[in-house]
This record gives sequence, C-alpha cells and structure tokens, in this order.
Amino acid sequence: MADDTTDTKSSNQMWGGRFASGPDAIMEEINASIGFDKKLFAQDIRGSIAHATMLAHQGIITTDDKDKIVHGLNTILSEIEGGNFEFSRQLEDIHMNVEARLATLIGPAAGRLHTARSRNDQVALDFRLWVKEELQKTEQMLTGLIAAFLDRAEEHAESVMPGFTHLQTAQPVTFGHHCMAYVEMFGRDRSRVRHAIEHLDESPIGAAALAGTGYPIDRHMTAKALGFREPTRNSIDTVSDRDFAIEFLSIAAIAGMHLSRLAEEIVIWSTPQFGFVRLSDAFSTGSSIMPQKKNPDAAELVRAKTGRINGSLVALLTIMKGLPLAYSKDMQEDKEQVFDAAESLELAIAAMTGMVRDMTVNTARMKEAAGSGYSTATDLADWLVREAGLPFRDAHHVTGRAVALAENKGCDLAELPLSDLQAIHAAITDKVYDVLTVEASVASRKSFGGTAPSEVRKQIAFWRARN
Ligand code: ARG
Repeated sequence: MADDTTDTKSSNQMWGGRFASGPDAIMEEINASIGFDKKLFAQDIRGSIAHATMLAHQGIITTDDKDKIVHGLNTILSEIEGGNFEFSRQLEDIHMNVEARLATLIGPAAGRLHTARSRNDQVALDFRLWVKEELQKTEQMLTGLIAAFLDRAEEHAESVMPGFTHLQTAQPVTFGHHCMAYVEMFGRDRSRVRHAIEHLDESPIGAAALAGTGYPIDRHMTAKALGFREPTRNSIDTVSDRDFAIEFLSIAAIAGMHLSRLAEEIVIWSTPQFGFVRLSDAFSTGSSIMPQKKNPDAAELVRAKTGRINGSLVALLTIMKGLPLAYSKDMQEDKEQVFDAAESLELAIAAMTGMVRDMTVNTARMKEAAGSGYSTATDLADWLVREAGLPFRDAHHVTGRAVALAENKGCDLAELPLSDLQAIHAAITDKVYDVLTVEASVASRKSFGGTAPSEVRKQIAFWRARN
C-alpha cells in the first residue's frame, strides 16, 4: 500500500482506478458491511428492543429512556420497511446505522442502548435470529416437497419402471418406490434442519465484547423475550462461534446434493430417449434455433445451484479455520455466504416442488423400459432357487446362460420358448413365466422397505403420519 508521502488522489496504479482518494476510501470499502448486513435490520431492532427492555427491568437504564428507545426503534423499523431509510456506508454496518438514526430521532437516550453489550454479541444475535428463521422456513419448504412426493408416490404405487444401478437397467421397481426414496432423503434433510434449530437455540446477547459485563443484566430474560431456549454459556465462545452458520451451510449443501440428483434424473427422464416424464411449459424453455426443443432449464439450474452452495460452505469453513478466539473481523464475511446459499436453496426447493407436482409421468413408456434389458433375470434365478432347489450361485449361472441366449435371439427372457429354457436347465417348467413379468417381479419384493406396491403404500402411510 502507498505510504502517506504519495499523492493519495492518484492512488495505486494496480487497483486505485476507482478510488477518489487513497487508503481511507479503501478502508471504508473493505470495512463496511451495510451493503449486505442491512438484511438483518428486523433482527437487529428486535434484539435491541429486548436488550433495552431488560436494561430497564434491571434498573440499568430508566423506564423513560427505555420507552424512548423502543419507540424510536419501532419508528426506524417502519422507515426501513417502507423504504424511507437512508443507509450510510460511513456508518459501516446495520448496528451503527440503526443506532445513529436512533440518536437523531430521540437524542441522548439513544446512547444508553449500547450499555452492557458490544457489536460482537449484537451481530452474533442478529445473525443467529436470521439463520433460525431461515431454518424454520427451510423446514416448511422441505415439508412441502415431501408432500409433493407423497402424492406422486401414492398415485404411482403400482406404476412399474426400470430400477437402475450404474445407470444400467437392474430390476423393475415402482415409480412410487422411487419417489419414496426422495422422501427419505428430504426427510433426513428436514431432521438435520430440526437438529440445527435446537443447536442454535441459545441467546448470545449479553456476552458483550467477549468477557461478559459488570452490569447486572439478566440474560435469561433477553433469551426468553427473543424466543431462545436459554442463553449461551460461555461469553468467549459466544462471540467467536459461527457453527450455526456453518451448520446451515452444511445442511444446505447436503440438501442441494439431493436436489441435484433429482434434477439430474428429471433431465435424463425427460429426454426423448427415456421419455419417462414430460415437464409442462411452465417448467421448461424452448430453443431460439431448434423449434422442436423443450429444455429442462429449471432442473438444470437446480443442479447447478449446488455449486454455489458448496462454494459458500467451503468459503465459510475457510474463513473460520485458524481464527484465534474470540471475535475477528474476518467473521463479517460470514453473511454473504449464508444469504446466497439460502436464496439458492429456497429457489431450488421451490422449483423442484413445482416440477415434481407438475410433471406428467408416462407410465406406458416406463413399463416398456422396465421389461427391457433382462430386468427380471434375478427373478428367474430366484425361481430356480425356490422351485428347483438350486444354490443361488448355480441359479445365477443358469440365468446368465438364458440371458445370453435371449440376447443372441434378440428377444426378452419371457419370449424364450420353454424348450430353450429346459435345454439350459431341465427343472424349468412353464410356471417360470409367471415370475418373468415386471408386475410379478415388483409384487414379489415385499421385504420391509422393498418395492412391492403393498410395501410402498405402508411407507407412504408412515410418512403421511409424520409429515
Ligand atoms: N459488522 C460486523 C460483523 O458483521 C459487526 C461486528 C463488529 N465488531 C467489531 N468489533 N468491529 O461482524
């Protein structure tokens, strides 16, 4: 950086072009967080009202001053909500913007609000409140997505589709069962959200700068007023902790990963080659050059949002890594990551809920695909074990030969004449054809959590009761 003998007006050649003067302007630019932390205005004001009320209750400020403060803060809240508030970068952040305006509105009493607190516990409070609300919103949105899947699963408890491993046809499953796999995934995400709410449900206010305060404050009172279970227990940890933000980002990253897998399946399923689902015009776009195209852009963007969310998680982990206790200004960089990830996650869940509800499922096409690729080969092997007493390994071998023969003849397993099957193994009878259909295959898989329609319906009932 230039030393103070250089002309600050001309500033640094490498990066100074946009600065009217030297270091001061740069300092303001790097230091100010108002550009993004103004998003915390409602939480900041709520926190200040709770703090002032507690200060008056404890006799630390007068009731008269408290009333002025609360009235002034409510005025500021309406000003900001009504778009009649001028945020100033010189005032750095939301905390000082609000406090400065309070001083203009109510005079010297405003100066008493910051008694027994610091911006360190204040920002920890505001941000925790914001993340808590966001988690609650995420919980509701996941519930909506799960509900959409439950409806589709019920509708398609019997619709047969190919199940894949390695994206190669494996065994027939039902579309309802496949939908319920996502219910399990998003159900786990939602339970992670609920745990995170429990983890963060402690009030930071009153930790002050890092050491607590000599004023006779009541942290239990502010905790209760702000809807927290209890106050945090260590003032140093309180102002240096951002686990709640990192937990939010971790949950968002895992949910984003789930959403991207779903997005990828929708992209694949909606290709003409698969043709399993059709997205409505509401969730697709056309091509400016190829008139025949209908692109699953919403699904592709959901798939891509994962990149931003993962980036935010890694960014905040990296920001926090190696920071000495307690507060360091590095921690100001926490908010944009969380705000951006929250916006991406909300959009992704909303878009996916829309797509899941909206997509048309082509059951005929799914069924046709379910029967191809020798998907009932395992059923033939199981039949040989059950009806002919073969060890599974031998049955596997016999079935392999049947598949090879069908492949040579260019037909399905069920299309092989009995004489062909008996030439491979003499114990095979015409009863075997009963298990070679896809419907028989799925209906037989009644093991707990299996794909049989009866099992799928049990799982739907289980989730309906807890959604
Ligand atoms: N804007 C700051 C942040 O977001 C508020 C806390 C500032 N504290 C301080 N001691 N400078 O972290």
